[in-house]
Amino acid sequence: MEERFLSDVLDASYPESLMSEPTLRVTAVCLGNICRSPIAEVVLSDRVARAGLGARIQVDSAGTGDWHVGGRADHRTIAVLTSHGYDIDHVPRQITHSWMENIDLLLAMDHRNYRDLDGLIRGGSTQVRPTLRMLRSFDPQLLEIAEPDTRLDVPDPYYGDPADFEDVLAMVERAADGVVTYLEQRLSGA
Ligand code: 4NP
Repeated sequence: MEERFLSDVLDASYPESLMSEPTLRVTAVCLGNICRSPIAEVVLSDRVARAGLGARIQVDSAGTGDWHVGGRADHRTIAVLTSHGYDIDHVPRQITHSWMENIDLLLAMDHRNYRDLDGLIRGGSTQVRPTLRMLRSFDPQLLEIAEPDTRLDVPDPYYGDPADFEDVLAMVERAADGVVTYLEQRLSGA
């Protein structure tokens, strides 16, 4: 019987063009990874899939803090996403130095996250550094504001109420298409 290897099967079933095309990893980052960045991850994943780029753009999220690692998203995060038709299956994680060499775009939810991520990037030993942006800098109505800036913050809703989570979702949705357009341009080498 002819011996078959995994690579034979993959080569046969996976389009050649897709294997050779560049891919990007995007990581949304907030403080606890239970409220804002999981919302950003879910919305961006949805927009990336709708753009037909699910195979080329990987979206995830993390927190700068470790309090909620291994737990679950805040119940208000789950509520706001499900009430707007999104699915969420999330386990909070903390971002560390070692992630830097595998991320192409870091999206900070507020100016403190931006500052902390800037420190992580600068403190890393790797030569390959992710691009650091504030998520809301992609909102078409906020393009004039130079980042980092508190006016680009997605405010922390943790001590707030469900309306604050609605506001977070709306802010993320306003910026999401701009993020996808930016990623499309990077993929095409523009
Ligand atoms: P997030 O919100 O950064 O949007 O996930 C927070 C979640 C938890 C805490 C702070 C902010 N905390 O202090 O535990």
